[in-house]
Amino acid sequence: MRVLSGIQPTGNLHLGNYLGAIRNWVKMQDEMDADSACFFFLADLHSITVHEERATRMRNVREMAAALIACGIDADRSVLFNQARVPAHAELAWLLNGTARIGWLNRMTQFKDKAGKNREGASIGLFVYPVLQAADILLYQATHVPVGEDQKQHLELTRDIATKFNTDFGVELFTLPDPYIPKESARIMSLRDGTAKMSKSDPSDMSRINLTDDDDGIAQKVRKAKTDPEPLPETAAALEGRAEALNLVGIYATLTEQTPDAVCASFAGKGFGAFKPALAEVLVETLRPIRQRFIALKEDEAALDAILDKGAEKARAVAAPTLDGAYEALGLMR
Ligand code: AMP
Ligand code: TRP
Repeated sequence: MRVLSGIQPTGNLHLGNYLGAIRNWVKMQDEMDADSACFFFLADLHSITVHEERATRMRNVREMAAALIACGIDADRSVLFNQARVPAHAELAWLLNGTARIGWLNRMTQFKDKAGKNREGASIGLFVYPVLQAADILLYQATHVPVGEDQKQHLELTRDIATKFNTDFGVELFTLPDPYIPKESARIMSLRDGTAKMSKSDPSDMSRINLTDDDDGIAQKVRKAKTDPEPLPETAAALEGRAEALNLVGIYATLTEQTPDAVCASFAGKGFGAFKPALAEVLVETLRPIRQRFIALKEDEAALDAILDKGAEKARAVAAPTLDGAYEALGLMR
């Protein structure tokens, strides 16, 4: 079993990133036995598909590393690194470009969504993004890849590329990975609109809880969160059609590791005047230690760079045999 996942180093981390992605990684790390490390990386090579100033990109990579560590990723137990420090990712992606088919990539819904109407004006990088992702995964012989639903298609493509390469060159080089979508994986919605995802790009800061928000800021955002005048029902099913209420119950349930039904049962008949302070309290208590570590780490660039250097060194060693095998299979002499 080898667990591997990547995350794009976007700035302004929020509760959605924590509960939807990072916390799942921490859980997997903590469940692994001592001698099998998880691989977690910052997809900075993928991030060049969105234009960014150099200083912003550097800050985002360090910030995301700080956030992962603050949330519980332990760089001694897991291999934590950024792609750019491990050239094997870019190299294998190029080699896989000989195997991946244009027709396969044409079917990727994430490309269609991100390119929008202006397909001709989209970068080649955005189009071949999933090939780099396949390289990320195949380099380390990953078996379990914790991701959100939206990444399932990229995992399928990774399997297709791996199978075709192995078959075309008569090798058993690549392991076929499976997506791992945690059961309790959370989709956190905006505090202002229960039908929109909580997002760093929402113009209203009141719509999200940032990892840098202080106790009062968190409490205020919960107090002002959109709700309805009805009391909480006995079961979560009865929250149908009450998107904002469902979202707040969902956040509470995720944070306290209960089912939404259990949360409804304990607050049934009470209104949001009673529920919101309880939610604010668990949020504040959960996020306070994370925020304190995050802010301290973020400032310590030298320490973060040293952690990423060390992670990259470990990653390079594990990636090397697979990359060598790919050159070898293709008859490329180095
Ligand atoms: P992004 O910054 O949107 O690329 O997200 C980085 C990671 O956080 C991805 O794994 C997303 O699936 C996850 N994520 C972002 N927003 C949310 C949200 N509102 N709810 C759950 N997961 C989220
Ligand atoms: N594409 C993923 C996302 O947007 C990030 C990613 C890049 C990734 N490489 C990966 C995830 C490899 C899992 C494995 O969330």
